[in-house]
Amino acid sequence: MPNVNMLDLQGEYELIRDKIRAAVDGVLESQQFINGPAVKQLEQALAERVGVAHGIAMSSGTDALLCALMTLKISPGDEVILPSFTFFATAGVIARLGATPVFVDVDEATFNMDPLLIEKAITSHTRAIIVVHLFGQCADMAAINNVAGARDIKVVEDAAQAIDARYGDEPAGSLGDMACLSFYPTKNLGGFGEGGMILTNDESLAEVTRQLRNHGESSRYHHKRVGGNFRLDTMKAAILMVKLENLADFTRRRRDNAAAYDAALAESFVTPPVVMDKCSHVYHQYTIKTSRRDELREYLSRQGVGSGIYYPVPLHLQACFASLGYKPGSLPVTERLVNEVLSLPCHPMLSKDDVKHVIASILTMDQTCEQQDRLSTGCTEV
Ligand SMILES: Cc1ncc(COP(=O)(O)O)c(C=O)c1O
Repeated sequence: MPNVNMLDLQGEYELIRDKIRAAVDGVLESQQFINGPAVKQLEQALAERVGVAHGIAMSSGTDALLCALMTLKISPGDEVILPSFTFFATAGVIARLGATPVFVDVDEATFNMDPLLIEKAITSHTRAIIVVHLFGQCADMAAINNVAGARDIKVVEDAAQAIDARYGDEPAGSLGDMACLSFYPTKNLGGFGEGGMILTNDESLAEVTRQLRNHGESSRYHHKRVGGNFRLDTMKAAILMVKLENLADFTRRRRDNAAAYDAALAESFVTPPVVMDKCSHVYHQYTIKTSRRDELREYLSRQGVGSGIYYPVPLHLQACFASLGYKPGSLPVTERLVNEVLSLPCHPMLSKDDVKHVIASILTMDQTCEQQDRLSTGCTEV
């Protein structure tokens, strides 16, 4: 019985070991650990790939989100709208600036924010919306941009999980005022350590972001504003340049895995992820829904199949946000999803046999349970 894990970073590394070592060696020989040429190369490569004017490499996806909000001057008294069904960083950065996170519910099918609920959550204090493209599928950006644009509210894309995803013809990262990527090692473009990037078409926002990344320095030792050290190391940028070469192929492999799951699971007791007509998904996670989630997770584990729950606790019910006054029942769809979602292995190193084993395991549990149901029904009838 094969063991099918959620990740195979070792396998991915082995494909490119020599190139990575050469890239690291190049940086070692240059001794330019900060702001070396690879940083600019990565910024240009990703800005071009996403079709925006500016890429600004950052120390992490979290710092990218924080710095984007700092650039937009989000401060105490401001409200920022976001989903509750996301990774903590999306909300944490709002609270760290003293602003108020305003959580809205998501669409049951796509797991992304519901534009109608965004509109209802807007007040005179709303300054920005952070739109998360969860699991690798873009949110309904046309509707969200309409809502925001009518009121001069800034839109920040949290594209940490969505590099190379598309909304119509437009790539994730080009759909709002600013966008944030993450290069956390498990991401679709995963680095060797922490990393991230801000993308924007706006020249003046880009200039402020570049200053904030470097302690707010406007010229050497002159500080117009207070920033931080949000720089990405040259070594990490050089490694990411190598990893970028495989991204399109890896995304294709993720999509093939997802297509095999979709076909095999369509009639089963689990609900495969729904992809909006306009969207092309990059399957950072392949996330199914089932009311028997915990039973399935345990069964898969006994079959040697890994799985993940993203996310088990909604952000509006986290202890650190208790003072915001949300209660169980405040965001019913999110609260149901946290009990029903399960992410299956979908990484690019899966073999066809691995995928078959995951599928067979799910269907076997289905059949085993049907048999049990039939037996127990028989018993009841007697
Ligand atoms: C949706 C989302 N936002 C933000 C982040 C934060 O990125 P990082 O871990 O690079 O700080 C992550 C990833 O971890 C994420 O998945």
